[in-house]
Amino acid sequence: MAAVSPEMNFDIGLVNTIVARSSLSWIDGLNGVLEYVGYDIDDLARHSTFEETTFLLWNRRLPSRSELDAFNAQIRSEYDLPEAMWDMIVSLPRDASPMHALRTLVSALALHDLHADAPDENERKSLAMLAKMPALIAGFDRHRKGLDVIRPTGDCCISESFLRMMRDEEPTERMARAMDVCLILHADHGFNASTFAALVTIATLSDMYSAITTAIGTLKGPLHGGANQGVMLMLEEIGHIEAAEKFVLGRLANRERIMGFGHRVYKAYDPRATYLKSFSKGIAEDTGNLDLFEMSSRIEQIMEREVGAKGIFPNVDFYSATTYFSLGLDLDLFTPVFAMSRVSGWTAHCLEYLTDNRLIRPRCEYNGPHGQSYVPINQR
Ligand code: CMC
Repeated sequence: MAAVSPEMNFDIGLVNTIVARSSLSWIDGLNGVLEYVGYDIDDLARHSTFEETTFLLWNRRLPSRSELDAFNAQIRSEYDLPEAMWDMIVSLPRDASPMHALRTLVSALALHDLHADAPDENERKSLAMLAKMPALIAGFDRHRKGLDVIRPTGDCCISESFLRMMRDEEPTERMARAMDVCLILHADHGFNASTFAALVTIATLSDMYSAITTAIGTLKGPLHGGANQGVMLMLEEIGHIEAAEKFVLGRLANRERIMGFGHRVYKAYDPRATYLKSFSKGIAEDTGNLDLFEMSSRIEQIMEREVGAKGIFPNVDFYSATTYFSLGLDLDLFTPVFAMSRVSGWTAHCLEYLTDNRLIRPRCEYNGPHGQSYVPINQR
């Protein structure tokens, strides 16, 4: 009987399996370090922009001034959508979830690209998706609220353009910077579930639109990108700082998860959460949401006391929830915004993997019956 060979590992959840090499992001989970192409995430969050970080991920080096100017111009020239895509946005059901809408709309971009399947145009398609996602998300959000869509103008960076299209007003400098920092911090993170899903798709030599559509569907899950929305729902359920202790202890006693804590790789403080924590305090203060920040801090203290020894600390989603809420984003837009950032890493990994492609095809250990005889349906 054909069986799995003895050399094969059984590794449920691929916890102990390395499936490829990559020079994009390096994670030291025990010491809480994250680098993109050797640059510390904290350094990038303080000094870089989302566009420059994307250039870094795609080219594995920082750009010169003229390269960055050209890259920014290229991205801005791709902000707008084909007319038929604007029509499609306003034809979507208003009560659809924004993640379902985004997945559908990104997939639909391929319908308007005559060269959707051309492998030598993968970089162009990556740039088009990166540039157009803000319009897809903001356009759908305004449509579902019964507001006119705002078209991108192409005279500012992605974070500013996104906030403008969402709110129909100029964001403050601090708001645009907060948005940009969130995009930098979420841009890449090794072989997380959605990146891996994108790679599984691209490794079949399918197309970039399909790979990113796969990734969006994977990011949506509450154990992955959906956690930031889960954090906000939890904060709303707790309601006020005094109720935090009872809530957290009750959940832990029932062996329930506290959203925004724990990570498959980090067993120390998630370095993205370190920076976001101080940043989210500032933006919460500016926007009258300091209560939310203080409640989050209190939850963090309780969690550290109760489960810190097990290596469970806040992850990137914990303080990004307060930041996005303070930026005026609806809860169900938190994960689409994560996608708007992670498309940078997804596409970088796809481009990198294709340079030495191998079909990804693991095996399962069959544990069902053998040798059964087919019984005609009227005799069962
Ligand atoms: N709250 C309470 N206990 C937790 C939590 C949590 N958030 N996370 C892990 N644990 C406990 C878990 O109960 C288990 O305890 P025990 O050993 O006593 O049974 C132990 O820690 C190990 O948990 P695990 O599920 O085996 O760990 P994992 O590596 O499979 O899971 C995780 C990682 C992210 C799925 C998990 O920590 C979790 O469910 N967190 C909440 C959801 C969340 O915030 N997700 C966002 C992840 S960061 C963004 C991203 O990269 O997508």
